[in-house]
Amino acid sequence: MTDAITIRRANLGDAFRLGDIGSVTFSETFAHLYLPEDLAAFLQSTHSPEAWGRRLQDAHLAVWLVEDVDGTAVGYASAGPCKLPMPDLESNAGELFQLYLRASHRGKHLGSRLLETALAWLELRGFDPLYIGVWSGNAGAQRLYARFGFTRCGEYEFAVGRQRDHEFILRRA
Ligand SMILES: CC(C)(COP(=O)(O)OP(=O)(O)OC[C@H]1O[C@@H](n2cnc3c(N)ncnc32)[C@H](O)[C@@H]1OP(=O)(O)O)[C@@H](O)C(=O)NCCC(=O)NCCS
Repeated sequence: MTDAITIRRANLGDAFRLGDIGSVTFSETFAHLYLPEDLAAFLQSTHSPEAWGRRLQDAHLAVWLVEDVDGTAVGYASAGPCKLPMPDLESNAGELFQLYLRASHRGKHLGSRLLETALAWLELRGFDPLYIGVWSGNAGAQRLYARFGFTRCGEYEFAVGRQRDHEFILRRA
């Protein structure tokens, strides 16, 4: 029953929960790609409660938590001004930074709901165009983003510890 699952804006009190769901979902999806030390460095820099605390204090960003009926966090998303290394990036460009669900909750349209929520916020804030960075090997997410009108416009390298991943940059005008 995904109807009973709620999506809400995260607040300053959610830093620990986001650190937890961020680490769990990234590890569930991508841990097999990395050396343990690279994965640990990435989780520390990106998903520590301190890192989330800084993001939650940034008024330019928005973060959403997906919660199961019993209040357990099962996913999250974040969005804000685009930080991707695009040449001639538009000053008003927005970006979906993260979109993650627990493996147990995937494939039930919850990701689409979460994506719609984040895109609606970006549009309401006047961000245009919109960008997403996605790992080149993540065909599932690329299909989802294509369904929402995003097309490939560039590529870059994303650091996970000392490893560099080949990422696609997607754009929707
Ligand atoms: C991407 C994600 C949020 C999508 O949420 P979801 O609830 O599974 O997606 P929905 O049920 O709304 O839509 C299903 C579509 O999601 C896409 N998809 C993305 N990742 C997928 C995966 N690992 N397995 C299957 N489909 C996936 C596909 O387009 C799928 O439709 P299709 O099978 O007809 O092609 C979720 O699968 C997830 O958390 N994946 C792991 C993390 C991730 O890759 N995040 C994106 C980083 S850029």
